[in-house]
Amino acid sequence: MEITVDGEPVAGLDGQTVAGVLLAAGRKSWRTTRSGAPRGVFCGIGACFDCLLTVNGVPDVRACRRRAADGDEIRTQSREDA
Ligand code: FES
Repeated sequence: MEITVDGEPVAGLDGQTVAGVLLAAGRKSWRTTRSGAPRGVFCGIGACFDCLLTVNGVPDVRACRRRAADGDEIRTQSREDA
């Protein structure tokens, strides 16, 4: 299974969440707050909304709750994008 993250191909395993694919690829953060602070997984269970990103054009998807699918186009986002 392969997704793209800001246009770069990233390989994952069937069943992984988007966050799981990103973490396994060595990425600890993929979003910034208004102040520029990095954010990635915090709670990991869909409660904190720290892990937001854009999936196939849909913004504010929680990476820890969204199962990755082959061909997904992931865009990281900043507060200004939301
Ligand atoms: S890490 Fe908290 S909602 Fe995803």
